[in-house]
Amino acid sequence: MPIDGNKRVAILISGGGSNMVTLANSMVGDHPARPCLVLSNVPDAGGLAKATAMGIPTAIVDHRNFKGDREGFEKALNSTLDEYSPDIICLAGFMRILTEDFTGYWAGRCLNIHPSLLPKYKGLHTHQRALEAGDAEAGCSVHEVTAELDGGPILGQARVPVLPEDDAGRLAARVLVEEHKLYPAVLRRFADGDKPAAFALIRLETGRGFRHIKAGVSFLAKSP
Ligand code: GRF
Repeated sequence: MPIDGNKRVAILISGGGSNMVTLANSMVGDHPARPCLVLSNVPDAGGLAKATAMGIPTAIVDHRNFKGDREGFEKALNSTLDEYSPDIICLAGFMRILTEDFTGYWAGRCLNIHPSLLPKYKGLHTHQRALEAGDAEAGCSVHEVTAELDGGPILGQARVPVLPEDDAGRLAARVLVEEHKLYPAVLRRFADGDKPAAFALIRLETGRGFRHIKAGVSFLAKSP
């Protein structure tokens, strides 16, 4: 059942949940979605208490109980998710690799935020890797989730300059500020049914697309 006529969003976390908080805070007023669940695979994830304080239902599916049985873990994840009938899943610092059974089930309905300018630096330690490569800029990407780790169509990116005094922690903190703007902005467009991603990305790569800049957030946009 929609919440007050709005789409239902389940947010999956493993940690502090700062992205989850900004997503949940954004889903008010004329936003076309509302949070229906915050689910963590880590029982003491700090984000769970924040979700409860915001009045959002929470659930825990502890991956350690499945002792490496990914299929069993994902079955449990899905049976919990199905109880809340989400229209959209937002991975927000959810630190588990998902199998193609899971990503296939939620295909076209699942987003992730990754702290790099994809396709650069899939996986972990993104900021350290950007520094070691001598990159002039870093950033974050929101993408659709597919079977390829951090590999689905990119829906939006935000950039920050790499500064001479940066270490991985300082860079991560500046990128996180941008994550908190980017993810809610992309979710809103996605929930509105505006999915400019793969098609626009191809046009950009062939030099026939264009980039639309709005409030410091860079979207891959449709041609007029
Ligand atoms: C974010 O940087 C996210 O991009 C990464 O993990 C961090 C999670 O932060 N995957 P939080 O839990 O949202 O505060």
